Amino acid sequence: MNAVDMLKERRSVRKFTDQPVAEETLKEIIEMAAFAPSWKNTQTTRYIAVYDQAIKDKIANECIMGFEGNKRTIDGAPVLIVETTVDKRSGYERDGSFSTSKENHWQSFDAGIACQTFCLAAHEVGLATVIMGIFDEAKVIEAVGVPEGQSVSALIALGYADEEPKMPPRKTVEDLLTIK
Ligand SMILES: Cc1cc2nc3c(=O)[nH]c(=O)nc-3n(C[C@H](O)[C@H](O)[C@H](O)COP(=O)(O)O)c2cc1C
Repeated sequence: MNAVDMLKERRSVRKFTDQPVAEETLKEIIEMAAFAPSWKNTQTTRYIAVYDQAIKDKIANECIMGFEGNKRTIDGAPVLIVETTVDKRSGYERDGSFSTSKENHWQSFDAGIACQTFCLAAHEVGLATVIMGIFDEAKVIEAVGVPEGQSVSALIALGYADEEPKMPPRKTVEDLLTIK
């Protein structure tokens, strides 16, 4: 798939078929996601793939701040990706001080790039995703057993699409671009 088609055709999908996601396919996606750029090539993003029904249920029922939309999405997704980030590397000097006035901003920045790279890689192999930001981080850490020293950056539902959502409207070039 060429890059323009990929960028335009990827949609957030919230309804999935029952078709399972093979671990081999997931590994292909991660291999592609590893090409995401990162602060000083620190590569701090990690992916915890939750196939386990009990853990998925716990996240859907207890960790999404009562947001029914995300509960439905997670209930119906064959896999839930918990995207985590190793703390205190991206945007930091070796002595632990911040490299810039934007302090720990770059950790989330890297996580966002990695997240979209993951979603595009999934799209390339015929899988669908939706990024979810509405969750209770402390509860997700507990439910999944996120390793010490990592933060949860996003949840990503992953599976084969059972809907073809219309593209939400986009701003125009004029809205987005300033040339000086
Ligand atoms: C940081 C971030 C957080 C999001 N959180 C949620 C969420 O909690 N639940 C949800 O259903 N969609 C969520 N979305 C998906 C957006 O609603 C979606 O990307 C947007 O409407 C544009 O649609 P598209 O992805 O199909 O282009 C999130 C997207 C991003 C980038």
